[in-house]
Amino acid sequence: MAALLEVEDLRVEFGRGPETASVLNGVGYHVDEGETLAVLGESGSGKSVTAQTVMGILDAPPGRIIGGSVRFRGEELLGADPERRRLLRGESMAMIFQDALSALNPVYTVGFQIAEQFRFRRGMSRKDATARAVEMLDQVRIPNAKQRVKEYPHQFSGGMRQRAMIAMSLALDPELLIADEPTTALDVTVQAQIMDLLDELRRERGMGLVLITHDLGVVAEVADRIAVMYAGRIVEHTDAETLYARPGHPYTRGLMDSVPRVDDPGHAAGAPLRPIPGLPPSLAAIPNGCPFHPRCAYAQDVCVDDVPPLRELGDGHQAACHFAERFVAEGTDRPTTHEVVSG
Ligand SMILES: Nc1ncnc2c1ncn2[C@@H]1O[C@H](COP(=O)(O)OP(=O)(O)OP(=O)(O)O)[C@@H](O)[C@H]1O
Ligand code: SF4
Ligand SMILES: [Mg+2]
Repeated sequence: MAALLEVEDLRVEFGRGPETASVLNGVGYHVDEGETLAVLGESGSGKSVTAQTVMGILDAPPGRIIGGSVRFRGEELLGADPERRRLLRGESMAMIFQDALSALNPVYTVGFQIAEQFRFRRGMSRKDATARAVEMLDQVRIPNAKQRVKEYPHQFSGGMRQRAMIAMSLALDPELLIADEPTTALDVTVQAQIMDLLDELRRERGMGLVLITHDLGVVAEVADRIAVMYAGRIVEHTDAETLYARPGHPYTRGLMDSVPRVDDPGHAAGAPLRPIPGLPPSLAAIPNGCPFHPRCAYAQDVCVDDVPPLRELGDGHQAACHFAERFVAEGTDRPTTHEVVSG
């Protein structure tokens, strides 16, 4: 399969002087045609900043790209002509934003907002563009699309609004879609419906899909591969099955225990979730050695001194932990960071 998107060693900072926050510290991932990559991590780990840098919409300043590479179908995008980047956005790569409600304009109908793209990018008449908007609403399974195209965002439920956002992002038929927390504000049933829809659309269109989430439960079934982010780095990368059964990084294991799991009746029934002890580090003062060491029950002296690189463990499974082989071998039999800390 051809590589659609290749991100390598991406480094981004925010701020100046002693306040400088190293937000991305060498992020790399790739997405092939027709494939789904989930990017998982706690709040502030750099998931959205990575996506914004890929899309060429990073808030800069205050953000600063200080190194790395973003290639789309082999073409380097960092440093590319802004006009070229603008053209690629929408046509080749599109993004659904974390905040669907504020991404829609409340004073225009949903149909108008979708049709605008056909008018301005495709030069269509208002009538043809509206007809295409109806087709798009149909494609994202909005019932009675002919009527709903005339309605305003506030007349749509949360789930329908998210569908409208998806329709808008797919209007120009992009090859890559980045969905930033597309289901966060929705209830569990609607979350599953939106995930299924994204998955179907990906399959129908042969599109590459990047699903950003802090909730592994939501993406486990649709992701081909999962990249786990911590403090602006990828700390683990593998397929969903391996990640569940044999996580190589203690942070991954902690994340799995801190989010509800659809396949775990205890959690589904409302059992209390167990957040990972401690907080993510300040990005202006990332700890020496392994950035996770202050929160890791397995930390040894070497973890305080040496940064563990992201290493290949076999079959495309990579983890950035000095003891990853041991953790993979032990699978989920060993206690998690939560259990070790709480005794
Ligand atoms: N415009 C900005 N100015 C200053 N700092 C920023 C800006 N945008 C992001 N950051 C910082 O970059 C870091 C990573 O932010 P990012 O939005 O990528 O996190 P995230 O992983 O998407 O988190 P969340 O799950 O909350 O969306 C955060 O510490 C954030 O404060
Ligand atoms: S390198 Fe050390 S501190 Fe970091 S995750 Fe592995 S065991 Fe924990
Ligand atoms: Mg985000």
